[in-house]
Amino acid sequence: MKNIRIALTKGRLEKYAVNMFEALGINCDELRDKGRKLIFKDEKKGIEFVLVKSVDVITYVEHGAADIGIVGKDTLMEQHKEVYEVVDLKVGKCKFAVAALPDFKSYEGYNRKKIATKYPEVARNFFRKKGEDVEIIKIDGSVELAPILGLADAIVDIVETGDTLRENGLVVFDKICDISARMIVNKASMKIYREQIGELIAGVQKYVDENQ
Ligand code: PRP
Repeated sequence: MKNIRIALTKGRLEKYAVNMFEALGINCDELRDKGRKLIFKDEKKGIEFVLVKSVDVITYVEHGAADIGIVGKDTLMEQHKEVYEVVDLKVGKCKFAVAALPDFKSYEGYNRKKIATKYPEVARNFFRKKGEDVEIIKIDGSVELAPILGLADAIVDIVETGDTLRENGLVVFDKICDISARMIVNKASMKIYREQIGELIAGVQKYVDENQ
């Protein structure tokens, strides 16, 4: 029987995922004491973990190089990949929002508003649904600077505590949607390893229900 490979994101969700899989009886000692290693195995349980960046979790799972992934809904919304989204882990909670300096004149006026974001797809879909014709400017980080430096009128970004916005003098003008971590599964793996993966999904769902 082959190992089921699970792709985890480094950072925020990693600790939660490790606690969760340990609670399901999977040995995560190697993951807890990982050094610079990127692959970790529990041979007895037939489980293998790999640590990758969140955008890459979806790529590995879509192509079947990993069977399962744990990743934020933000990344899933931006990527539109062909994977099954099976469990809402209800952690890593935050939201997508439109934010700007307080004097932002919403969407009034004739000039096309410029929106800076790390999530062009999410921003494009949101404004399309609103019927607003905006120019999307892709930025890779510190998006909050864009309105301050005059690159954009507003931003679409993730807001968790709101501290980053507050400390940079920006305010939320529109909430787009809530975000949380999700468990995803490769479509073929779901069929081929139905029993093993089904057991993992049930275990994860139970853990989520008991730890909310
Ligand atoms: C996100 C987001 C904000 C910040 C919001 O960035 O882009 O900058 O978190 O969090 P807050 O509301 O709690 O202040 P992240 O930390 O993911 O880093 P990044 O900019 O490198 O993507």
